[in-house]
Amino acid sequence: MITFRSRSDDSAERHGINPSEAPVVAVVSPKGGNGKTTVSSNLAVALAHRTDSVIIDLDVHFGDVQYALRMCPVHRLDDLVDADSRRDPMSMLSTHPSGLDVLCAPSDPVAADRMSVGDAFGVVDRIIAANRPVILDTAGGISNYSLGALDRATRVVMVCGTDVPSVQAGRKLLDTMRRLDMDLSHVDLLVNRSDACVGLSVDDVETALDCQAVLAVPEHSSLAAGMNSGSPVTESSPRSSVAAAFHRYADLVLGLDLAAGTRRGRR
Ligand SMILES: Nc1ncnc2c1ncn2[C@@H]1O[C@H](COP(=O)(O)OP(=O)(O)O)[C@@H](O)[C@H]1O
Ligand SMILES: [Mg+2]
Repeated sequence: MITFRSRSDDSAERHGINPSEAPVVAVVSPKGGNGKTTVSSNLAVALAHRTDSVIIDLDVHFGDVQYALRMCPVHRLDDLVDADSRRDPMSMLSTHPSGLDVLCAPSDPVAADRMSVGDAFGVVDRIIAANRPVILDTAGGISNYSLGALDRATRVVMVCGTDVPSVQAGRKLLDTMRRLDMDLSHVDLLVNRSDACVGLSVDDVETALDCQAVLAVPEHSSLAAGMNSGSPVTESSPRSSVAAAFHRYADLVLGLDLAAGTRRGRR
């Protein structure tokens, strides 16, 4: 297990990780069902195999990181918002068997709407300040939560399918980010269901979005089964080709394997 900065033994540096910057990865896609939570949960577990990491479910109304990771959280995001401010939010996270710390979304939309976006990001910012890699799973659409996640991200994973609505929505999201003067240089395109053979290839998606895919994830029953069983493939079958692509991408996120940025996940 690799540890990050602020560890007394400096093992992060020994393992070649930049000790000063724990990545904050926002996983976004304007469309629901494109695979954000599948990607977030698999990537988060892959990161946790390398270093202490956190996943925060910012799909506050209908978040399903809880199910993707089969968690029974004692505290959720709204509980941390309500908690005594002297309490360390890191001590209120739930721990997955992989070692990943998990902050689940509120239990229902009513509970979610009782907290303010600003208060929720107050908690998120305190967790980010602990300087561990953080994955922010988001909901479809553009909301104050997804914009807040984009604002804080040092890397954005934009998940896009090989269907026209998904690509068009992806273009609109990138245009919106441009209009908001957001930096697009740290956006990684992930083409999900890359081998779906529904008329658009990965190259077509790349051309339409004017962006090269960093990772292409094929349609694979193990990913859907992993979501249903609450056991991501990066945990249950880490040597499978699908899981291996996520593990290589985790190396890239941590700066461990820069060569992984050349679409090695493609099949
Ligand atoms: N590459 C894939 N292969 C097979 N099933 C997938 C793949 N990507 C996503 N799925 C399935 O599609 C459904 C929606 O994915 P999900 O990650 O929940 O999307 P989102 O979070 O964007 O709404 C889930 O049941 C998931 O298991
Ligand atoms: Mg989701």
